[in-house]
Amino acid sequence: MADATMQPAILARGISKRFGDFVAVDRLDLRVPRTRVYGFLGPNGSGKSTTIRMLCGLLTQSEGEIEVLGLNVPRDSEAVRRRIGYMPQRFSLYEDLTVRENLEFLGAVQGLERKRRRARIDELLRTYYLAARAGQLAGSLSGGQKQRLMLAGAVIHAPELLFLDEPTSAVDPESRRDFWEKLFDLADIGTTILVSTHYMDEAERCHRIAILDRGRLVADGEPAALARRLKGRTWGVESLQPRKVQAALREVDGVISIAQVGTELRVLCEEDGGIDERLRNKLQETGLRADIRPIEPNLEDVFVAVTQPQAQAARE
Ligand SMILES: Nc1ncnc2c1ncn2[C@@H]1O[C@H](COP(=O)(O)OP(=O)(O)OP(=O)(O)O)[C@@H](O)[C@H]1O
Ligand SMILES: [Mg+2]
Repeated sequence: MADATMQPAILARGISKRFGDFVAVDRLDLRVPRTRVYGFLGPNGSGKSTTIRMLCGLLTQSEGEIEVLGLNVPRDSEAVRRRIGYMPQRFSLYEDLTVRENLEFLGAVQGLERKRRRARIDELLRTYYLAARAGQLAGSLSGGQKQRLMLAGAVIHAPELLFLDEPTSAVDPESRRDFWEKLFDLADIGTTILVSTHYMDEAERCHRIAILDRGRLVADGEPAALARRLKGRTWGVESLQPRKVQAALREVDGVISIAQVGTELRVLCEEDGGIDERLRNKLQETGLRADIRPIEPNLEDVFVAVTQPQAQAARE
């Protein structure tokens, strides 16, 4: 028999989800290896939550095959649910129950027997810095505390696989860092994590990422490797008149996007040689002075290169 640890945590082949005529997820193939932190990126409405809900067995795919921890979804969804944790995008706990009562409830739902449940809850309250808040109503917690409570609830039964849907939206940078430390602790003890995010710094921390755009998989790989593929396509432009220079360079053939970061412009171009010459010619034509040099591509460049701008996507 094949070693179970070699089996991917998630295997999806050609999965789609249609809502009426609308295709929210379009023939997606995914392979998520075990004990890895796998990032899920994509613009608003690209199908991240819908995909996660299908993988969890909460929503049935319109077509395609899903295997989670070696089990078939949706056929074996009951068995799958006992071995996975899911933290939805919206706060989903009882606001009028205390922190401890929420965890008690979730522990009972997962079938933890009373004594074991109590010990596990005490452990989670400590791990997620909620011990001093145990008696506080969940509805009165701060944003960061709510996220930690949701995470504690999602892992109460020590799942092998954890789905987190934008777990750190509305959380300050330091709390986000702490949250990610907890995720790596979980990965370290063998938990596979699939996490959706809009934050590039979080995406960079993942072992592997997938980028969705309008329901389709448009990139899949290690963050650094995906960025390396854009080598030669990113240029930095320094000038005293960045707004004017930006407006001029936008007209150059082959420019995909220009973003101002501080005083520097980051220019992302199509894959073809000679673009720097065209950029320089344009500056000369318009009489603007600027310094152009190649810069290292980053994950945000990858994101911009593979996804459609929202406005354009809405028009189509
Ligand atoms: N139950 C539903 N009925 C009809 N359309 C739906 C339903 N659920 C989702 N959609 C549509 O499917 C598309 C994908 O939605 P989804 O929530 O998966 O996107 P997302 O990538 O999670 O976006 P965000 O980053 O904003 O959370 C959207 O256009 C959404 O309106
Ligand atoms: Mg979503």
